[in-house]
This record gives sequence, C-alpha cells and structure tokens, in this order.
Amino acid sequence: MKGKYSNRTLKKLENAASIVICTGAGMSAESGIATFRDADGLWSRFRPEDLASEPGFRRDPELVQSWYQSRQRQLRSTQPNAGHVAIAELEARTERFLLVTQNVDDLHEKAGSRNIIHLHGTLAEDRCIDCSTRPTTSLADCAVLPHRCTKCDGYIRPGVVWFGEMLPEAAMENAAAALDQCDVLLSVGTSGLVYPAAALPGLARARGAYTVEVNIEPTALGDEMDDRILGSAATVLPELLSTSILHN
Ligand code: OAD
Repeated sequence: MKGKYSNRTLKKLENAASIVICTGAGMSAESGIATFRDADGLWSRFRPEDLASEPGFRRDPELVQSWYQSRQRQLRSTQPNAGHVAIAELEARTERFLLVTQNVDDLHEKAGSRNIIHLHGTLAEDRCIDCSTRPTTSLADCAVLPHRCTKCDGYIRPGVVWFGEMLPEAAMENAAAALDQCDVLLSVGTSGLVYPAAALPGLARARGAYTVEVNIEPTALGDEMDDRILGSAATVLPELLSTSILHN
C-alpha cells in the first residue's frame, strides 16, 4: 500500500504537528448523499436559485421546506463512511487539528470529529427567516407544511448558507487563522468552485503548508497543490491516514 502514495506526502503527514482538512460534498458521496455538480448531482436536477436562495424561498416556502425536510430526514438514517472515520482518528492523534467542511450534514460529528467549522452552516439548525427564533419542532418532524414560527409567523428555514448570503460569523476568520500554523492541508471531495471556501488551500500554501488534494477526478484547485491523489475519500483516507502507513 505504501508505494501507492508519494513518500513526500507520507513524510509530511507523519511529521505534521498541525493539520487542516477541508471537505466538500464528495466526502459524503459514499454515505449515499448526493453531490452538487457531478453528472447526477443535485444541481443537475434542481435549480439552486429556486431551492438555495432567499428570493426562491420567499417565492415558494413550502417547496423549499419540503426539499430540506427530505434531506434532513435522509440524514437521520445515514452513516459516516470510512473516510469520515479516518479523519476523526487522525484528529485524535494530532497536536493541532481543524476540520473545515462545506458540508451541511452531520457525518463528521457522527464519526467523532470534534474541532470542526461548518462554513456553509448545518441542515439541522432551523430558524425563523424573519426573527431567527429556533422552532421547537424541526422541519424534519413537521407533519404539515409550510412550517411557521410560533413567535412571529415567519417561515422556518434551514440553517444552511444560501447563495447571496454571508458565511456564519467568524467561520472564515477562524478557518483562515488556523492556516497560519498549518503544516499540511488536505482538500477532500470538493470541486473548488465555491468561494471563499475554495481559497483556503491556496492561502495555506502561500503560508508554507504542504497541500494535497483527494478527489475522484482532477480539479483546477488540485492544479495548485503539492500533490494530487486520484481516488475516493472512503478508500484513500483510511489508507493514507492509517497509523501503520505513517509509522512503518
Ligand atoms: P461539488 O458537487 O461541487 O463537487 C463535489 C466534488 O467531489 C467533485 O469534484 C467530485 O469529483 C468529487 N467527488 C465525488 N465523489 C467523490 C468521492 N467518493 N471521493 C472523493 N471525491 C469525490 O461539491 P462542493 O465542492 O462541496 O453550497 O460544492 C461546494 C458548495 O456548492 C456546497 O457546499 C453547496 C454547493 O452549492 C451551499 O449549499 C452553500
């Protein structure tokens, strides 16, 4: 297995005191969650301006709520894959570790990851679009849509970042701060087309970190990295990050 990966990458990982891992939708693909821009991805079947923007939500709240409700319900029966588990294990044995995900699922948490920033929010954290009150009944548990706020009657929206919205306060600042002292950055399963998340590997490299992409296909983001590993997250990460590889 060792010959499969570059010796330089293995050495860098072995010696790293500080690691940042950035993940995108490809990370959860093998758990059964659809990606966005692949041939069978969500944005090939749905229009983001209808389902992932405030104007789209205000036009048809019931449609948008029912789409997020089905995604929330799907998550309840979805399990992390071997890639999520490998990342959580790496965190447990690394001095300084940060996981920055664009994913709105909870599969990293289910696998045991602790120090994690959700750049694009999380599916589960519903709130009222008008007064931000958290509902007592989640969208996933709501029997009749549209789901409205008991305080102001506004519509309940999912806690994800939509197109045209700001990232959660401090998310990007905290992620960028971790790059200052990062020895190795791994970017896993992202097309690298959505900013500011896509800027993180370049920032890390400019500050001296060794950067590696893991993806089933080459991306423009990977062109700018020190190493590119072609393969799936659930296959590559357990192999690449396993203690035996790093210490034998
Ligand atoms: P994309 O759908 O744009 O890209 C998914 C990437 O994962 C592609 O580069 C695939 O080649 C790769 N991939 C697919 N399966 C894989 C696997 N098993 N192992 C490794 N890689 C795999 O998803 P993101 O880059 O995450 O934003 O998209 C970024 C943002 O765009 C999302 O967070 C979402 C979307 O609009 C919001 O919802 C705000």
